This record gives sequence, structure tokens and C-alpha cells, in this order.
Amino acid sequence: MKTAILGASGLVGRTMLELLAERQWLSEPPRLLVSGRSAGAELPFRGEKLVCTEVGPDSFEGLDIVLFSAGGGPSRKWGPIAAAAGAQVVDNSSAWRMDSDTPLVVPEINGGLLRPVGPGSSGGIIANPNCSTIQIAMAVAPLDRVFGVRETQVTTLQAVSGGGQAALAELKAQNEGQAPGPDSLFPRPMAHNVLPAIGAKEDDGSYEEEGKVGRELRKILGRGADLQVSCTATRVPVFNGHSAAVRVVCEKPVDQAAACDALAAWPGVVITRDPHDFATAQEMSGRNEVHVGRIRVEADNPHALLLWVVADNLLKGAALNAVQIADLLAGQK
Ligand SMILES: NC(=O)c1ccc[n+]([C@@H]2O[C@H](COP(=O)([O-])OP(=O)(O)OC[C@H]3O[C@@H](n4cnc5c(N)ncnc54)[C@H](OP(=O)(O)O)[C@@H]3O)[C@@H](O)[C@H]2O)c1
Repeated sequence: MKTAILGASGLVGRTMLELLAERQWLSEPPRLLVSGRSAGAELPFRGEKLVCTEVGPDSFEGLDIVLFSAGGGPSRKWGPIAAAAGAQVVDNSSAWRMDSDTPLVVPEINGGLLRPVGPGSSGGIIANPNCSTIQIAMAVAPLDRVFGVRETQVTTLQAVSGGGQAALAELKAQNEGQAPGPDSLFPRPMAHNVLPAIGAKEDDGSYEEEGKVGRELRKILGRGADLQVSCTATRVPVFNGHSAAVRVVCEKPVDQAAACDALAAWPGVVITRDPHDFATAQEMSGRNEVHVGRIRVEADNPHALLLWVVADNLLKGAALNAVQIADLLAGQK
């Protein structure tokens, strides 16, 4: 399989490259595509250096699978061009997620939507969900199968790496005492602070990130308006690893042990059964799994379960999920 990464020099793109280096289905090193800013930069791959080139109309010829992680604008521009050239695009931006012809995939939940690439396959676009949505979906899906989830309320605590390398550099500068300037990427100081504002302001009083969680969760689970989702998304001064406090309300009364069994049996999920125990963003940074802890039935409502869900946003929240989609396209489980 011939591959490329668009956005290879970014936080997610570099992580994708590291994960592709472990895959046996690549027939040659991936093509590394960037903007003019990083053209000529070198990135390590299996002990060699690969040179990044500026993306252009001919960049996708002869490719089977292309991982996109360069933001919504480049995805909207280059996605149809790459697909027309015959490639399967796995897009990490929000550009195509809610498009009715585009599958939105978490392999452990709805990977069955995908068919392996083969001789004569035509190109297409597959969307990788939002980082918070992926880890929340990984916790909600097993509970939905057993108890029938009808409501999900979420508060996220999202790491700064979720905003890309410029955001990470700004937090490091603020941590060293530099005051945020007028071109800050954050709406208020980020160091030593918590900001309940991620993305653009929406007319309904929410921020952009918050609506993504509900829309995308319903699409991944194959549900409609019968699944009610509310989300408050916060940015916290953590370098890497998203956390989320999640409440699910189910059709059936929830048994704590049965909920733990359902979560523990789900591929890619690890749990702590002790309701006082949990994982932290620091502990999960660099790990592939989604961790679910603080699992407890709500005192006042036997249909409600409370969870603490933590995952590496650059891995399962972005690059790993995209590469797992690529694995399925390459015919690998
Ligand atoms: N970080 C996360 O946890 C996370 C999670 C889920 C989804 N995402 C999504 O993944 C995407 C990338 O995130 P990131 O954190 O890796 O961002 P990043 O660190 O800022 O990297 C952005 C990458 O996109 C490239 N790029 C930007 N504009 C481009 C253009 N016009 N043409 C070609 N390449 C362009 C950059 O290339 P240059 O070096 O040449 O500028 C760089 O490689 C975004 O859509 C983001 O929303 C991120």
C-alpha cells in the first residue's frame, strides 16, 4: 500500500508517521506533504530521514491511502482531489465529518462500515472524529449495547496539544512568565487557568467544540435525536491527554459490576473497577488505550452511571484512530 500524510510536520502528523513506521502493510515510505512553510524539512522514519514536500495537485497520484491532518481548509481543498486520484482519504479535520456520504469511524465501534482497498477500488473520504468524541464514544458504546443509553452529559478537560504545536509553544511560554499578547491563541491566560471556550462562538451560546461531541457521537453510534447529549468543553493547562467527566442515563437500571464487565471487554478500553480509582492525563499520555475510572452508579438515579474517561488526544484521539482506519482499509485487523 502506498501512503502519504498531509500535515506531516504537525503534532498529529508526526504521530501518524511514528505509527505508520510500525505497520507492515506499507510498500514504501509515506510521502510527507506540508505547506510551503515546512517544505524541505526532514522527519525520521525507520532510521532514515524523509523530506517533506509542498502539497500540490499531483501529490496524490498512485497512492492508496492518504492521512490528512492539516486542518479544515486544506481538507476541503485537497480531499476531493486526492479521492479523484483514486486514494482513500482518512481526514482528521472536521471538514467532512457530518457529510452524509462520509463515514465517521471509530474502528472498535463501526469499523464494519469500511471495505479494504483492492484492485480497481475507487477513492473516497473517511472522517476521523473529534478527539474528545472518540474517547467518549469508546466509553459510551459498550454501555449503550448493554443498558441502552438515552442521555450523555459531558464536561471535557482538554489538553493544550489538542490545539496544535503553536498552542503548545504558547503554553510553554506562558508557563515561563511570558504574558499573552494580542495574537494569543487562547481567549484568556492559559497557564494556571481553565478556559470553558474551545473553538468559535455559536449562536445558541455554545462553543464550536461542544456541538461536535453530540453530533458526532450520534453519528458514530447510529443514533438520532433519541440520544440526548450535552457538553461543556474546557481547555486545561495540561500538555497532553484529554480527560472527561461523563454521565450516562440508560433505559435499563445500571449494575456497576455489569457496567465494568461491558467496558473491560471492549477492545481498546481499560478500566479500574474500584470506584475511587482513576487514571490521569499524565499517566495515559503516550498510551493507546482509553481509560475509564471512577465508575459508579449515581446515588439518586439507578439508571445513571458516572465515569472519568482519559485518553491521549494525539493517539486514540487523532493519529492512532486514523491509522487504525488505515489498517482496516489495508485489510489488516
Ligand atoms: N492535536 C490534536 O489532539 C488533534 C486531535 C484531533 C484532531 N486534530 C486535527 O488535526 C489537524 C492537525 O492538528 P495538529 O495538532 O497536528 O496541528 P499542528 O501541529 O498545528 O500542525 C498542522 C499541520 O498542518 C499543516 N498545514 C497547515 N496549513 C496547511 C496548508 N494550507 N497546506 C498544507 N499543509 C498545511 C502544517 O504544515 P506546515 O508545517 O507546513 O505549516 C502542519 O503539518 C487539525 O485539523 C486538528 O483540528 C488535532
